[in-house]
Amino acid sequence: MMDRAALRLILLGVFLISASSQPVKKKQNVDIYSFYINSTVTSRYATTVITSRVANTVNESQEIQFEVKIPKNAFISKFRMTIEGKIYDGVVKEKQEAQQQYSRAVSRGESAGLIKSVGRTLEDFKTSVTVAALSKVTFELTYEELLKRRLGKFELLINAQPIQPVADFKVDVHIQEKPGISFLEVKGDLSTDDLANAIKTTRADKDAWVTFYPTRDQQTKCKSCGENGLNGDLLITYDVERPNHQGEVMVSNGYFVHYFAPSDVPRIPKNVVFIIDRSGSMSGRKIHQTRLALLKILSDLDEDDHFGLITFDSEVKTWKNELLKATKDNLETAKAFVKEIRDRGATDINAAVLAGVDMINRHPREGTASILILLTDGDPTSGETNKERIMANVKEAIGLKFPLYCLGFGYDVNFDFLTKMSLENGGVARRIYEDSDADLQLQGFYDEVAVPLLTDIQLTYTGGTNLTKTSFSLYFNGSEIVVSGQITDNSVESFTTEVIAVSKGSNVTYHETVMAKDPSDVPPEDEDFMPRLWAYLTVKQILERQVLLKGQGKEDEKKKALKLSLKYQFVTSLTSMVVTKPQEDEVEVADKPKEGGEEPRPPVPGYSQYHFSFSQPGLPGQPVMGWVMVAAVSLEGLCCSVYLLHLLFIQGFMIAVAC
Ligand SMILES: *[C@@H]1O[C@H](CO)[C@@H](O)[C@H](O)[C@H]1NC(C)=O
Ligand SMILES: *[C@@H]1O[C@H](CO)[C@@H](O)[C@H](O)[C@H]1NC(C)=O
Ligand SMILES: *[C@@H]1O[C@H](CO)[C@@H](O)[C@H](O)[C@H]1NC(C)=O
Ligand SMILES: *[C@@H]1O[C@H](CO)[C@@H](O)[C@H](O)[C@H]1NC(C)=O
Ligand SMILES: *[C@@H]1O[C@H](CO)[C@@H](O)[C@H](O)[C@H]1NC(C)=O
Repeated sequence: MMDRAALRLILLGVFLISASSQPVKKKQNVDIYSFYINSTVTSRYATTVITSRVANTVNESQEIQFEVKIPKNAFISKFRMTIEGKIYDGVVKEKQEAQQQYSRAVSRGESAGLIKSVGRTLEDFKTSVTVAALSKVTFELTYEELLKRRLGKFELLINAQPIQPVADFKVDVHIQEKPGISFLEVKGDLSTDDLANAIKTTRADKDAWVTFYPTRDQQTKCKSCGENGLNGDLLITYDVERPNHQGEVMVSNGYFVHYFAPSDVPRIPKNVVFIIDRSGSMSGRKIHQTRLALLKILSDLDEDDHFGLITFDSEVKTWKNELLKATKDNLETAKAFVKEIRDRGATDINAAVLAGVDMINRHPREGTASILILLTDGDPTSGETNKERIMANVKEAIGLKFPLYCLGFGYDVNFDFLTKMSLENGGVARRIYEDSDADLQLQGFYDEVAVPLLTDIQLTYTGGTNLTKTSFSLYFNGSEIVVSGQITDNSVESFTTEVIAVSKGSNVTYHETVMAKDPSDVPPEDEDFMPRLWAYLTVKQILERQVLLKGQGKEDEKKKALKLSLKYQFVTSLTSMVVTKPQEDEVEVADKPKEGGEEPRPPVPGYSQYHFSFSQPGLPGQPVMGWVMVAAVSLEGLCCSVYLLHLLFIQGFMIAVAC
């Protein structure tokens, strides 16, 4: 009996060892014979379909993996596997329902595995399926996103990393923008000299096409590629023409979208206060990068801007007691102050932010735009440390008179707290990733808010309903305000928009009337995007402001977002995609990783994200090597235990029988 148990354990060990070496073999026996990425952008709304066709080239069934990276901002809306003519579609369900239904998968801890957050901008989608001998599988993943205008441009990021050179590899991008495309550029680490002749850009008035068809040979020889083929991004940046200052309104199918980004107004002088964390945790590179960024930002201030500098640990220290004009002399002394910023004690966020608010409040604000920027890398640990009370204090002090932007440096910050505090005060929170370019990230954020053009923007749509957000505290040069909604009465001939805002010292109004039934409007095949865009924006905004809501209001909003997520099959934080595989009982659930939650450290550059999953059902997933080691180490101990048990039970039994 003991021998059999030991034998089983040894067999298990051998089995584990052979299983762990399997992936290497698999890799060579899988042929990705075609890999397409097809992206269509219609009026900033991008729908991307990734299609990978893979053949199992061996005479036995094996597991085939599909792994791609998609932008964090996007919602997955479809996943399909086609195996021997049979279609397996992922189904988006309410998160709880999905989890209850598949609690077994959840309890095995495998459910969260389908989508993971990687680095700053991407999420990793990974799944696998067992494919019969010499059969083929097609994976198809669709995701959607509304491209955001930043610093005067839209960016479409396409990651290509098919894991091996592919005979038929294609990236096709088609951009259509009704008012015309003002510039288009293809960048990213795949846009190198080696691959230059594989990238083709074609432009017409309102359309642009980018194709990227590298040969199999090129896929292994480019700078960022190796024997595993392509590995990198294409970044397509463009901007649109803006013939009308009142913006561009599109109406279709009972929906409308309004893109508003006027450039006919002068910049508004700003009052900006930087509140800088100099607590002990900022020591080293972080404080150094912060100094670098501040020095650069100070140089970029305009002479009619006013600014203040506050540093804090457990003590709050101000450069000057009030806001001062950004004159040459003032900037010089400010820079000297910045160079002396050193890391020291604890973190008194409450006192520091209140000091900043007070500074702005004491300064005359007529005809200016005020902005408060907090940079911190940790939790409040000194002074008032109760986050609820800090938020209440800050909210009361600011009174919605100007926005507070919170920059969370690194992964030790409580990002939820910062998000909530920013949203409550009309701003946004941004994460600054601990990396060699953190100073550039800080500057990049500042650049986005450097040129305010309008304040107190209010958009009104006569005949519109179910509108997305319509009031904004600030509009910055290079950004864009987007509002979408439904049209109350689809039979109306025309539709009117009005924007009221405060420009430099004067009120401005923009009006537009558009014909709702313009036959030349959108070609019918492209009309589909508008309800989806509206749903995307509605869901995004609800999820964003959810943290501020309480009680019934929160439940109602959540319900609305859930309903839309289900209708449009968006994988959001409220839904999960359930992927059922051909093998009985094999189910996986894809959840959207939480933004701002505990994210993994950014991957080491050059380290491949690809890893193989363990294919035997019922056994733990990833750390196969770990299991082998545990099994090996335990083997001896187990044998002894089994032997002891054997002695105990058998002899005990014999004694019992004898009695
Ligand atoms: C890309 O998608 C568009 C729109 O869905 C379609 O018309 C086109 O044929 C696709 N191209 C490829 C290469 O699949
Ligand atoms: C596949 O293997 C089976 C036995 O396992 C054998 O009968 C068959 O001829 C093999 N087919 C090919 C194409 O090698
Ligand atoms: C806004 O930015 C554009 C470039 O994107 C620039 O040409 C223009 O002068 C800026 N406007 C102001 C008021 O600074
Ligand atoms: C849109 O608004 C109308 C009322 O104006 C409401 O009855 C309807 O439920 C709303 N639709 C959605 C999808 O929210
Ligand atoms: C702008 O409008 C508001 C109210 O609509 C008014 O109180 C304010 O005086 C106006 N400002 C200017 C400069 O016209």
